[in-house]
Amino acid sequence: MVDARNAPVRQMDITRPAAARIYDAFLGGGHNFGVERDFVERVERVLPGIGASYRENRAFLRRAVEFLLASGVRQFLDLGSGIPTIGHLHEVARRRTRDFRVLYVDNEPLTVAHSRPLLADEPRAEILLADCRDPESVLRSPEARRMLDLREPVGVLMTSVLHFVPDADDPAGLVEAYRDAVVPGSHLVVSHVTGTSEPEAVQVLADCYAQTSDPLHPRETSWIDKLFGDFEVLPPGTTHLADWRPDPEHPVGAAGRYRVLHGGVARKST
Ligand SMILES: C[S@@+](CC[C@H](N)C(=O)[O-])C[C@H]1O[C@@H](n2cnc3c(N)ncnc32)[C@H](O)[C@@H]1O
Repeated sequence: MVDARNAPVRQMDITRPAAARIYDAFLGGGHNFGVERDFVERVERVLPGIGASYRENRAFLRRAVEFLLASGVRQFLDLGSGIPTIGHLHEVARRRTRDFRVLYVDNEPLTVAHSRPLLADEPRAEILLADCRDPESVLRSPEARRMLDLREPVGVLMTSVLHFVPDADDPAGLVEAYRDAVVPGSHLVVSHVTGTSEPEAVQVLADCYAQTSDPLHPRETSWIDKLFGDFEVLPPGTTHLADWRPDPEHPVGAAGRYRVLHGGVARKST
């Protein structure tokens, strides 16, 4: 299978759970299959309460996008978007303004196929079938030209995607390419699975994901922090996601038992 630019894309495989639909199932969405629901049950059995971490990630995304909107950012590049439902970026943005644009990018064909009809009535958001490991083809795509003006600040989101990129594909190098492509005033939002505070739980999680289409590559928090490069990491710094500007008006539900997600928001100042 090839994408719009004739580049190979990941094969569709509905026999194994996929990260996008696992996440959707954990969030209580309707865009998942039996293999993902069985996977969720299995993971909940070995790591009871782990679902709160998925909700924490989505709540972090919402707070980060609200923060970016309040800082004047109006265009967003969401790499590894998954299925844009249950409080995803464009839903957050349109509660605040009519003036925004979102380019979602995902490399899983069925995720993109499920997403297109969900975005059919939203001219300010599109989804591109592409691999975030290829910044050139993402940034030069007709979709990116349509949705993003790279002369203006962009909010670049890489939430819960880089832990699916193996070391051999140089995840730090690809984040650098996106950092270099955007102008001052742009922001980078990252969340990533880490085993720094709970190595055993994260090893169990990685063992579960080894059976899926998206094996997991947890990393130390010190490695994740370096992804921001020379961008200015904004207060409160990089943290466990639940501690990043918590919003008492929108509690995530039961507090996460596992501290397995680390991230933050940074701004390009020069
Ligand atoms: C757990 S979901 C994260 C969804 C969303 N970013 C969030 O934080 O709410 C991870 C998504 O990354 C996608 N993904 C994994 N590797 C990718 C790659 N190399 N390029 C683009 N998308 C990728 C998966 O298909 C999946 O939809």
